[in-house]
Amino acid sequence: MHVTCIVGARPNFMKVAPILRAAEAWPDVRTRLVHTGQHYDERMSDLFFDQLGLPHPDIHLGVGSGSHAAQTARVMLQFDETLDHNPTDLVIVVGDVNSTLACALVAVKRNIPVAHVEAGLRSGDRRMPEEINRVLTDQISDLLFTTERSAADNLRAEGIAAEKIHFVGNVMIDTLYRHRERARQSDVLSRLGLTERRYAVSTLHRPSNVDTEADALNTVRALEEVARRLPVVVPLHPRTRLKLEEFRLLDRLLGWPAMRILEPLGYFEFLALVDRSALVFTDSGGIQEETTALGVPCLTFRDSTERPITITHGTNRLVGLDPIRVAAALADLLTGHARQVSVPELWDGHAAERIWTVLRQTRSARSDLAAPAQG
Ligand code: UD1
Repeated sequence: MHVTCIVGARPNFMKVAPILRAAEAWPDVRTRLVHTGQHYDERMSDLFFDQLGLPHPDIHLGVGSGSHAAQTARVMLQFDETLDHNPTDLVIVVGDVNSTLACALVAVKRNIPVAHVEAGLRSGDRRMPEEINRVLTDQISDLLFTTERSAADNLRAEGIAAEKIHFVGNVMIDTLYRHRERARQSDVLSRLGLTERRYAVSTLHRPSNVDTEADALNTVRALEEVARRLPVVVPLHPRTRLKLEEFRLLDRLLGWPAMRILEPLGYFEFLALVDRSALVFTDSGGIQEETTALGVPCLTFRDSTERPITITHGTNRLVGLDPIRVAAALADLLTGHARQVSVPELWDGHAAERIWTVLRQTRSARSDLAAPAQG
């Protein structure tokens, strides 16, 4: 079985790493790694390959940045062309970035089966580009691997057959458990002069929070609420930095002694920082899950989440987009009692192995997955 795995953007790397590693247990499986190049900076891409032990991509499409249409179209054109020369039996896509949808669409049009890892998550907010990517990718995928049970309900409500859906757990948490000990050896806290559980970590980059001047200002105000209470480490995503500079808000943040504005961090450094922090303030999807697995309180600067289990079982709280609500939630968190939390079902470090078990079983049962590789 020849399987092509797609990565494009930073949150994909930690999801694909355990899938590739688990494939090594099966001598009849050949994997090929395609990097679309959606993220291309050293700190957004190469560093993760090194730290996570990802193999060098077999194919790099080098698409870079652009509008959603341009980026998606470039990935499609270039991935399509590579399939002329690199036949495959199955394409695995992960997450919800533009590269996920683009490659799934190319594959399905060539009648190549698609497996979507992290299927069925829904925020219900179609203004999020990721939500569009999720809904469409799931519609055209043959196998849907889910991280939490609510995802299957979402998929069935959209008419997806139950037999395509497999609850396997969370590959991103496979990676987190694998590297947690290694990350604990990082000296990042002492380098930044931080004391365990006496600082916050913040990442904010959603277009809806940074792309317009009014939204960026609101985000800055919310961040300032955090900095009023404790030191806050802010590894800035490139799009956030660009927007803050454009709106002349970066200097305002830099003026706060409690604010530690950094470049994007590597996986180990970031995990080490989050693991020992008092709380995380974010608009990321994945970090809501990582904090739940680590038991670190998370305040999510959004109105909705596609990962409800992080609220019902985990450490996550949605604080909306109002800096005053952020301040209230912070006060509550820093003075209140710890909530009872539990690690979600099957977030046990073995999701990738379950994926391969399903893939191999499906392959023996289904002729389209067992057919010779097609171009
Ligand atoms: C993408 C994903 C988002 C994910 C995020 C993680 C989509 C629709 N969005 O958003 O779900 O949470 O990645 O980081 O796919 N840039 C650089 N260097 C890079 C990459 C990007 O400077 O290596 C800058 C460019 O100015 C670019 C902007 O960031 O235009 C946005 O990059 P893009 O990949 O389009 O989306 P993200 O905001 O990173």
